[in-house]
Amino acid sequence: MTDTDLGAALPLPTASADFADRLARRRSAPAQSLADPGPSRDEVERILLLGARTPDHGKLFPWRFVVLGPQSRVELAEKLLPLADAQPGADKARKVLSKLTAPPLTILVVSSPVDSPKVPVWEQQLSAGAVCMNLEHAANALGYSASWITDWYSYDAAAVALLGLKNGETVAGFIHIGTLAEAPLERPRPDLTAITEWKL
Ligand SMILES: Cc1cc2nc3c(=O)[nH]c(=O)nc-3n(C[C@H](O)[C@H](O)[C@H](O)COP(=O)(O)O)c2cc1C
Repeated sequence: MTDTDLGAALPLPTASADFADRLARRRSAPAQSLADPGPSRDEVERILLLGARTPDHGKLFPWRFVVLGPQSRVELAEKLLPLADAQPGADKARKVLSKLTAPPLTILVVSSPVDSPKVPVWEQQLSAGAVCMNLEHAANALGYSASWITDWYSYDAAAVALLGLKNGETVAGFIHIGTLAEAPLERPRPDLTAITEWKL
């Protein structure tokens, strides 16, 4: 898909009404509603390839992926359950574990900053966030819906250890991917006049 030779000239952007329209109408999915079919192994590889094609200052690639199928997420949710009981709002903490187990496929994006004299950690973390968004776009491009979730287990120290994160790493997001039975509904969007300064 992107086996372009290093240094090869890439096409300049061309206007695409379809691309713009899809961006204008894209929506995340409720993670619990994501169902089969999910992407095949080949499709997941394509999604990863597209997701990794993300700007990052200094070519540090300060992120990594953990691809989680249904079985590994059931096991993870079982291990997280006792930790959920210890959370403030334990009921909700337990309930949101269903977001982990429902979708057919999940890509955990780990922000993994590297030592750099030039690139601040913040920029490396921003890049990990951009990877998450690109994974969602890639999933959409292949005809799947996606959801970017963090939830409490992305921040609880014991949970993060269960996820296998190393020192200095953080969860950028769980990107859940699958198919929705029902169309998502439009949600409020920001008032651009309130958040935009024009200085032409
Ligand atoms: C970094 C990040 C973390 C998020 N974590 C959660 C979460 O834990 N639970 C949740 O319900 N939505 C979470 N969301 C929100 C959804 O992914 C999504 O942005 C929202 O439902 C609507 O998005 P849409 O405009 O793409 O439809 C998160 C979004 C981001 C960017």
